[in-house]
Amino acid sequence: MQVKGGKGPFICFVLGGPGSGKGTQCAKIVKNYGLTHLSAGELLRREIASNSEYGTTILNTIKEGKIVPSEVTVSLIQKEMESSDSKKFLIDGFPRSEENRAAFERIMGAEPDIVLFFDCPEEEMVNRVLNRNEGRVDDNIDTVRKRLQVFKALNLPVINYYARRGKLYTINAVGTVDEIFEQVRAVFAALKLVTE
Ligand code: ADP
Ligand code: C5P
Ligand code: MG
Repeated sequence: MQVKGGKGPFICFVLGGPGSGKGTQCAKIVKNYGLTHLSAGELLRREIASNSEYGTTILNTIKEGKIVPSEVTVSLIQKEMESSDSKKFLIDGFPRSEENRAAFERIMGAEPDIVLFFDCPEEEMVNRVLNRNEGRVDDNIDTVRKRLQVFKALNLPVINYYARRGKLYTINAVGTVDEIFEQVRAVFAALKLVTE
């Protein structure tokens, strides 16, 4: 697989509201294209489970549907990227805010090559989250409503920023998992990043 010529790894950010299907599509991207998947939410949940010093703060923030301080999240992503010898990363659920974005650029000295945005109607996202059944503390109607507000207030501006920078690829996130993946495949094919 051929990635861009410059220095530094290829970075694809994956954005979309709660339940828009980011994790589901990332699994398919990994399987088809071999990128290394880092889910910011998963890294934070792992941090809670490991009883780290930030665990309680992270848990309370997630229960409220708010955004964990960027230094914490970026440092978890940084650790994963630096301990991996992968040259291509899929960073899922990040950046959630302008502050997240600026912290990544400052700490990592890197920007994404492309950004995928899974565009999904709110009621569909709510239905999917409430039927996810993974036992997550934030998959309840009250927290989902808060997460949707945070998504609109803090994440949409980041998505618009990448649209202005010509890096955004918007995917219609309604349909079967395979139908949606066909749109993702078209993005990677058009970038000529992939030899299948
Ligand atoms: P996100 O990572 O964006 O929060 P997930 O990939 O975890 O979203 O998907 C949320 C829920 O919706 C999961 O239970 C998943 O199985 C389901 N799901 C994912 N894609 C679809 C789809 N295209 N149609 C219906 N349900 C879906
Ligand atoms: O992406 P995911 O749904 O797994 O994120 C779950 C929660 O983790 C978010 O609602 C938020 O509280 C927290 N999170 C965060 N910063 C990120 C990603 C996730 O604070 N960049
Ligand atoms: Mg997810």
